[in-house]
Amino acid sequence: MLDRRRVVLAVTGGIAAYKTAFLARRLVESGAQVRVAMSKSAAEFIGPQTFAAIIGEPPYQDLFGADDVSPHTMLARWAELIIVAPATAATIARAANGLSEDLISATLLATEAPVLIAPAMHTEMWENKATKRNIDILRSDGYRFVGPNEGELAGGDVGVGRVAEPEEILSAARAILEPSARGLSVLVTAGGTREPVDPVRYLGNRSSGKMGHAIAEEGARRGYEVTLVTTSDLPVSGGIKVLSVETADEMKAAVDGVEPHIAVLAAAVADFKPADRASEKLARSEGLESIELVKTPDILASLVARDDGPITVGFAAETGGVDRAVEKARQKGVDLLVYNNVLEEGSGFGTDTNRVSFIASDGDVEEMPLMSKSAVAIELWDRIDALVDSRM
Ligand code: CTP
Repeated sequence: MLDRRRVVLAVTGGIAAYKTAFLARRLVESGAQVRVAMSKSAAEFIGPQTFAAIIGEPPYQDLFGADDVSPHTMLARWAELIIVAPATAATIARAANGLSEDLISATLLATEAPVLIAPAMHTEMWENKATKRNIDILRSDGYRFVGPNEGELAGGDVGVGRVAEPEEILSAARAILEPSARGLSVLVTAGGTREPVDPVRYLGNRSSGKMGHAIAEEGARRGYEVTLVTTSDLPVSGGIKVLSVETADEMKAAVDGVEPHIAVLAAAVADFKPADRASEKLARSEGLESIELVKTPDILASLVARDDGPITVGFAAETGGVDRAVEKARQKGVDLLVYNNVLEEGSGFGTDTNRVSFIASDGDVEEMPLMSKSAVAIELWDRIDALVDSRM
């Protein structure tokens, strides 16, 4: 129940605005206090009186001229959550660029509350590069999205761009207002391990740790207690407990000391390490034709094998298609596997973006578009929160 939680429903101009009346009703039924802000074009599609009858007070429609001298800052401060439904491409563009010339964009700019956006537009507009850029900016800024879905659009067209159903928007709102975190602890591993050959040299990989660190940050933002076991020295927000390690063995030892409710293993752990570590620098003149390698401990397997083990998320950085990762998801006993193809442009090691697919334990694949790593972290956490809600 959304008992007395304060929700601002911002309605912008699209035919989907009529569905927002159902959403308003469901919010009220769920116990929320609701205020409505409507744009001028929203009023072309649905009358303010409809909302007034549902929520018990007239919607806010203008920046100026209302009883309130500053309706945008009042709504911005009052809200515990702002839902923009439907959100047009223009509304999204204004929010992404910090523009504030109307009531809704000014309210978004003024608020510190979480914002949930339910986009609605024609497929061409949704797929336009400018819209994609704007969505990516907003995701990186912490805005949350629900939909759009595929289906019938205005004018009889069919495609992606249909606003999410009221029930979907309501459940996304509840996920924000009734967070899953509830004092649960999370372990995140990040970065690539370095396996020493001698005091100077090591066997390593190209992982930068950016993805794992973004996941740790988003988990902390959602109220989880985060322990980050990392080989990377990227900056980390206060509140996250950092355990710095270098090798797979050190990472395993650090992980062994933690009993998390959730484990997200984003680290690129070496599968093999040199059997011996020379105590002195190996000299060229001495010659070294080969290095004997031995297996490192499988950290993921050790977590999955624990009695009452955590919800476990694995990563699979591959150089081929998704099929091998689907097989891994089944074999490794993880609850979710995040696949990416590191050979794809913009994806993988060191970049700020990533294109991933989420693979469920039953092998179901959900492909995501190219996004910033912080946006990937948000999407990943939405799925982990859903797992938490269904299990705990
Ligand atoms: N992993 C781990 N400990 C290891 C190796 C990997 O915990 N010693 C974790 C990684 O953090 C990742 C997942 O296992 O979440 C999958 O890693 P990957 O290297 O793709 O798995 P492998 O089984 O080693 O697959 P491959 O045969 O491709 O090397």
